Amino acid sequence: MPSHEKQDFPVGDIRRFLEPGPVVLVTSRHRGRTNIMTMGWHMVLEFSPSLVGCLISSSNHSHDMIAGSRECVINVPAVRLAEKVVGIGNCSGADIDKFEAFDLTPVEADEVAAPLIEECHVNLECKLVEQRRSYDLFIFEVVKAHVVARPKYPKTIHYRGDGMFMVSGRSLNLRRKFRPDML
Ligand SMILES: Cc1cc2nc3c(=O)[nH]c(=O)nc-3n(C[C@H](O)[C@H](O)[C@H](O)COP(=O)(O)O)c2cc1C
Repeated sequence: MPSHEKQDFPVGDIRRFLEPGPVVLVTSRHRGRTNIMTMGWHMVLEFSPSLVGCLISSSNHSHDMIAGSRECVINVPAVRLAEKVVGIGNCSGADIDKFEAFDLTPVEADEVAAPLIEECHVNLECKLVEQRRSYDLFIFEVVKAHVVARPKYPKTIHYRGDGMFMVSGRSLNLRRKFRPDML
């Protein structure tokens, strides 16, 4: 039996317990240049229109590229890309071409100018709906989704802070416990 005895915990570190993941790669194109950044802080906000909220710090080069172009692509990498994901999140597109530096393949999107990353199993083309400057919060509408047919649940990485990641694991089918309209 796990113990239920608890201790005080620093509130600034609670992301370890709430981090939703998966960590994604956000691509952008602005004024003829492309870029990639790593992002863990995002959440789904609505089914239809399909809305996603993203925290993109104003200290990142991507922030101005995305605010300027009002578009991006959210790419979901599997665990085999984990080291590149960390590398991309520890350098700036202001200094280097990250597609070249990390040997990733840009692919033309259908609805936005930002490129898809070929090596990622999901690519979500997004248009900016709203920007809340007080929190560097961007709300995007996903206007087109590209998803590989197999595997259905690739192993994704979820950031716990302090350089530690969780890798998605086994699936649990509890469909029978759901009201049909909640599925
Ligand atoms: C695992 C991980 C998760 C990150 N999550 C975010 C995030 O949610 N929001 C953010 O603004 N930066 C996040 N970062 C930091 C950016 O990816 C990093 O500052 C990057 O260098 C920005 O690149 P750019 O300057 O080319 O845009 C994360 C970095 C890592 C390694």
